[in-house]
Amino acid sequence: MEKSYKQLLENNKKWVAEQLEQDPHYFEKLAKGQTPEYLWIGCSDSRVPANQITGTQPGDMFVHRNIANMVVHSDMNMLSVLSYAVEVLKVKHVIVCGHYECGGVSAAMENKQYGLIDNWLRHIKDVYKMYHRELEGIADEKLRARKFVEVNVMEQVYDLCKTTIIQNAWKNAQPLAVHGWVYSVGDGLIKDLNVTFTNEKELHSVYKYKVQ
Ligand code: CO
Repeated sequence: MEKSYKQLLENNKKWVAEQLEQDPHYFEKLAKGQTPEYLWIGCSDSRVPANQITGTQPGDMFVHRNIANMVVHSDMNMLSVLSYAVEVLKVKHVIVCGHYECGGVSAAMENKQYGLIDNWLRHIKDVYKMYHRELEGIADEKLRARKFVEVNVMEQVYDLCKTTIIQNAWKNAQPLAVHGWVYSVGDGLIKDLNVTFTNEKELHSVYKYKVQ
């Protein structure tokens, strides 16, 4: 236990040495600031590391992760990350990336109690209710869970577009696209759900804010 924990610090020293060998100014450059093009909203699942699976490096991606990659519009953490990424860093792409075999999504399909987390999973249950006909039409439980993962990502994409943060960026003609992806833990591939938004046109009128 103790050994494996100390190993992380050893790994860090090795990594620093490797980076410096490739570029002696690597950390000097990073210390000057960040201009990432992407905001990643993903699951906390240890099998879905944002940088590794997209071949991106430190400085490339601003990252927010929570259980089941949720965009809960009263979540101050998510809103602060989104606001900073869009308004200050001016990222060009916001990517919601879900993943198959998501424990949070599976738990939201069940009736078992897990404790405090049930309140977080409630947001996912609300998505289930919206799509219950389509989901219950899928007899195979595994396939139903996969579909649930996909529609959950789609709803989180819509929820991002409903925020004034995203809408104001579009109103200011800031180039910004919101995407929905699903990562497959089983084969490592990312599927683009093709639910990319670059304006609020497709949103229901009740969610469209006027220019302030
Ligand atoms: Co997950």
